[in-house]
Amino acid sequence: MKLRWLGHSAFELISEENLKILIDPFISNNPSCSVPVEDLNADLICITHGHADHFGDAMEIANRTSALVIANHEISIFFSRQGFNTQGMNIGGSSKFHDIKITMVDAKHSSDIDFMEEVTPGGCACGFIFELENGKKIYHAGDTSLFGDLKNIIGDFYKPDILLLPIGDRYTMGLQDASTAVNWISPNKVFPMHYNTFPVIEQDPDDFVDMVHKKSPKTEVIILEPGETYIE
Ligand code: NI
Ligand code: MN
Repeated sequence: MKLRWLGHSAFELISEENLKILIDPFISNNPSCSVPVEDLNADLICITHGHADHFGDAMEIANRTSALVIANHEISIFFSRQGFNTQGMNIGGSSKFHDIKITMVDAKHSSDIDFMEEVTPGGCACGFIFELENGKKIYHAGDTSLFGDLKNIIGDFYKPDILLLPIGDRYTMGLQDASTAVNWISPNKVFPMHYNTFPVIEQDPDDFVDMVHKKSPKTEVIILEPGETYIE
């Protein structure tokens, strides 16, 4: 699989069988993303919640590529009313797309659609677990605080191999909480996200590396540059 970080919480995941999944495609207004939105293609677009820094360019990309938009029930209704190809899900549910299983899991955050003139209710914020063809599980946590399910449900039950985790603080977990989440979930690898996009979420990722190293020496922290691709 190939995992390209597009900055902030935006990732492009390409599976072994070449299924292209865009997660939280915040591209054209994302100061840390230099990839032009027109260059992105997708079979699936997964949106963790309605905030502009996650919903991003989903409509433009879905319109151009006819990608299937996967989001919570409320955001899915928003898309279907405008004629988009969409599938709603809810917390705890799974769905198969070719050989990839996607599970929607809880996140502690809000989810209103906030970028239109009137703020529209957007259901509950979520994270996604992608179980790939080879059984490996990648968990994109969305925007979230530290909460008990990360230990009891994500760590003990789903047991993801790879974790994409916000560390920027202010709107999500910061370094201390995120490194505790890593300890609870105990993945093989963690990729920090949702930091250094804007001044208010500035973090030194090396501090995160140090904290994870102390609390969870078996977990490898991988720091990507925006635009960089991890392959395994
Ligand atoms: Ni948010
Ligand atoms: Mn956010």
